[in-house]
Amino acid sequence: MAQQVRGVIAPGKDQPVRVETIVVPDPRPGEAVVRVQACGVCHTDLHYKQGGISDDFPFLLGHEAAGVVESVGEGVTDVAPGDFVILNWRAVCGHCRACLRGRPWYCFDTHNAEQKMTLLDGTELSPALGIGAFAEKTLVAAGQCTKVDPSVSPQVAGLLGCGVMAGIGAAINTGNVGRGDTVAVIGCGGVGDAAIAGSRLAGAARIIAVDIDDRKLEKARAMGATHTVNSRGTDPVEAIRELTGGFGADVVIEAVGRPETYKQAFYARDLAGTVVLVGVPTPEMKLELPLLDVFGRGGALKSSWYGDCLPSRDFPMLIDLHLQGRLDLGAFVTETIALDEVEKAFERMHEGDVLRSVVVF
Ligand code: APR
Ligand code: ZN
Ligand code: ZN
Repeated sequence: MAQQVRGVIAPGKDQPVRVETIVVPDPRPGEAVVRVQACGVCHTDLHYKQGGISDDFPFLLGHEAAGVVESVGEGVTDVAPGDFVILNWRAVCGHCRACLRGRPWYCFDTHNAEQKMTLLDGTELSPALGIGAFAEKTLVAAGQCTKVDPSVSPQVAGLLGCGVMAGIGAAINTGNVGRGDTVAVIGCGGVGDAAIAGSRLAGAARIIAVDIDDRKLEKARAMGATHTVNSRGTDPVEAIRELTGGFGADVVIEAVGRPETYKQAFYARDLAGTVVLVGVPTPEMKLELPLLDVFGRGGALKSSWYGDCLPSRDFPMLIDLHLQGRLDLGAFVTETIALDEVEKAFERMHEGDVLRSVVVF
């Protein structure tokens, strides 16, 4: 029997979001229905609402979520009703070229539920990132559910499902930050702060936070930055070089997604260092660099998609580290809100004092 629950939809381009009744079908083979306990508000949800991702309105928003599996379709064995899970948007297929080469974090054929959730009149919903978790219950592919230690609080756990994982993974998976490295992080929102926390976890010797907002820099320090640079008044490339013995950082993580900050990252690293782009640019942005500098400075210019994470490997490990007190995921939760406050949370995103608003059910 399909169920009716409340969920937040984006009805059309730039229209305010609203709470509607959502019809959630019973899971078929390969699918699971999850009772959502918490779901963070991410910039990507706002981009969906603004029409910046696709025109497949109406969207069922929300994708940084944790909850309890309620039912599974026939043949599903990896998760069972009652399991506490974090939802992911990288349910790897195991069969594509990337998976077969042993690089499943690049999987080209990730799974989502095949059935559609709908409105009461039958209108099909497009779930954000194949999840749609600003809803009391949601239908996903079983592989999108990653079991973690249930003693963690859901509002903290859900954050690993997207932005915080992207930032931590940019440092530890894509950037390969290791013990003793110098790291600079440009842009200290939720993603940049997570890159800072990940760098600390990996044993970086020096972590330089760069932002144009002093409030962000203060928070970055709490997350593990050893030095801060406000690039509104100071040249960040010079400042990072000065703080690294004149060399530049081993790894520079760009967590804004703009050509000018990418250039800063490019020049702020040491020779043969690594640049990681985790900020997401818009289609019209262009980058111009002297090709000789690209050659002459060597090293690696990488992009990090979802922190190059493998949910089955990374989520349980990071939750365990959090439960041991070695990774403060709670610091990313600025406020908890109700389902009908998502629109307000979008407005607060621009004020700059929120890392994450989290809807709790
Ligand atoms: N130089 C330095 N910092 C900047 C600059 C700049 N020119 N412009 C903006 N910032 C800072 C902001 O002050 C803010 O602290 O970058 C940070 C961006 O943070 P958020 O807007 O909170 O975004 P976040 O959720 O962290 O995501 C960052 O990663 O996943 C992507 O789509 C996401 O592109 C976005 C990026
Ligand atoms: Zn695959
Ligand atoms: Zn997200």
